[in-house]
Amino acid sequence: MTFGREMLEHWTIDPDTTYLNHGTVGVAPRCVMAAQQAIRDEMERQPARFMLRQVSHLVGGPTGEPTLVRRAAEEVASFLGAEGDDLVFVDNATSGANAVLRSVPFQAGDEILLTDHNYGATARVATFIARERGAVVRTVAVPYPCFDPGRLIDEVERAIGPRTRLAVIDHITSESALVFPLAELARCCRERGVAILADGAHAPGTLPLELSKLGVDWYVGNLHKWAYAPRSCGILWARADRQTGLHPPVVSWGLDQGYLAEFDWVGTRDPSPWLASPVGLAFLRELDFEAVRRYNHDLAWRACEELTERWGGAVERDEESVGCMVTVPLPLAFGSTPEAAFHLRDRLLEDDHIEIQVHARNERLWVRVSAQVYNEWSDIERLSDAVARRIPPS
Ligand SMILES: Cc1ncc(COP(=O)(O)O)c(C=O)c1O
Repeated sequence: MTFGREMLEHWTIDPDTTYLNHGTVGVAPRCVMAAQQAIRDEMERQPARFMLRQVSHLVGGPTGEPTLVRRAAEEVASFLGAEGDDLVFVDNATSGANAVLRSVPFQAGDEILLTDHNYGATARVATFIARERGAVVRTVAVPYPCFDPGRLIDEVERAIGPRTRLAVIDHITSESALVFPLAELARCCRERGVAILADGAHAPGTLPLELSKLGVDWYVGNLHKWAYAPRSCGILWARADRQTGLHPPVVSWGLDQGYLAEFDWVGTRDPSPWLASPVGLAFLRELDFEAVRRYNHDLAWRACEELTERWGGAVERDEESVGCMVTVPLPLAFGSTPEAAFHLRDRLLEDDHIEIQVHARNERLWVRVSAQVYNEWSDIERLSDAVARRIPPS
């Protein structure tokens, strides 16, 4: 299989756009969208039957057959190295994080540990819950921009105190695109009696996963980013002893009926993203998951090395900390404010037709390059040229 621009035929992305932002909201391949449409067509032939007797078993006697949701969950779980009954679908990683954070019975004075690279929305959920329960959010500073995984583990270990109840740790961070040493962080928390919620929004489809062996208590992820599922397809994995008392953010018929009953039906909603997700995984396998990972990683790492050098920075991370995205420091002349980041992002999109994430952090601007099989080196060159043209005069 030859990866690069010709792979765009499998996606509906506008060919006039240089799409270097796969990580933000994901992009479903054509075959997955076709499968999703076929599911919707089937659903609309007999909607009540489909929703109440096939997607769920809310109506009708026991059939002995698993529901369509359970069947899809089994397939997803086997891809993620988990048991089907430990995995439920959620609409997105945010919903999964809400479920866990709202379900943990925090007492006044308990601490929730975050890092300063947690995704902003997840950090806000923690802040909201802490405010409601009189708990405290404690934030660990990630060693950055010079990233050192060993120092991160030390910092987390140092921050754990007698009241630390839960740590919310990213598997792959959002803006900085760092792959964290999750298994080691989980061990550090476990040894100190601290539960760990892993935020793997970017991990399925980026990293080979064995969720049941990571040592975490809960894992939330998205399939709609790197695992080629349609949008609104996230997962929540919970260790067997962490399933009781875990409730979805939207409580429905399944209350107190067990983990799967609680999450598998959360009101009438479109089940097609969940049901079509195995087709995304099948496409990933067809392309050869290992080859996809290698191609995306190599492109991201080359972008890291070459762009950093061109823009006068220093590479301050190991290749191991890079998955399919990489965050590169822009020339200092671009300034350091969020407004400058918005401005550059807008100009790159509107004038240069380059879709990419730009942000301000640590007193400068950064771009986050996503590498997907439809990208190739010429996309990175186009970005490099556009940035060079836009460097403000000093
Ligand atoms: C680390 C991380 N967590 C959570 C999310 C939220 O994902 P969603 O909007 O699909 O819930 C993102 C989104 O980019 C993310 O990067």
